[in-house]
Amino acid sequence: MKYDLSEVTEIIRNRRTIYPEQYTDRVVQKDMVTNILNNAIWAPTHKRTEPWRFKVYSGEGKQKLATILASAYKQLTPADQFNESKLEKLQRRIERTSVIIMMTMKRSEKVTIPEIEEVEAVSCAAQNIMLTATAYGLGSFWSSPKFIYDPRCSELMGYAKEDVVMGFMYLGYPEVAWPKSHRKPLEYVTEWIDG
Ligand SMILES: Cc1cc2nc3c(=O)[nH]c(=O)nc-3n(C[C@H](O)[C@H](O)[C@H](O)COP(=O)(O)O)c2cc1C
Repeated sequence: MKYDLSEVTEIIRNRRTIYPEQYTDRVVQKDMVTNILNNAIWAPTHKRTEPWRFKVYSGEGKQKLATILASAYKQLTPADQFNESKLEKLQRRIERTSVIIMMTMKRSEKVTIPEIEEVEAVSCAAQNIMLTATAYGLGSFWSSPKFIYDPRCSELMGYAKEDVVMGFMYLGYPEVAWPKSHRKPLEYVTEWIDG
């Protein structure tokens, strides 16, 4: 065995979505976030387009995120679905969280691979973020508010139309006991064809 598989398995299986309401006030240090993102960028990437882009919001910077998200929510949510308490919850979550990483996919201009592969690459980077966070004892929460799927969202947030806003990764030290989760047994999702 080249690596300690039990440790890797433990990190993968113990990665948990932990919400901002469950974080302590402890600050996630910048060098930790740098290490986390340095692992993120080692995700696989077809034709090495390296389509991931990150904006890291912390401290006073979080106010900027709160403003951008409030504006996007207001502009992209149909009037009959607009919910002020949802917006307030979003703002409270930003306030409560030490570090939030906005993850976007920068669509390659030169290489012609399907868009989905660039989204997939950023998803792999997101998993690297969450696994590294787990190794640090941090909870993570990949938030994908509905409005990010509006085709107008990228431009509204200052990106090119072809780019994709993939969501917001909240990171924090949990104040709760590390949550448990479950998955269906492997048999439900796997077919073995060996004859
Ligand atoms: C692409 C993606 C988007 C997600 N967006 C949200 C979200 O907007 N709100 C939310 O509560 N959870 C979101 N989640 C987290 C899931 O709810 C969570 O992974 C699931 O409940 C399983 O729990 P676990 O992550 O602890 O295993 C998202 C997960 C993924 C992969």
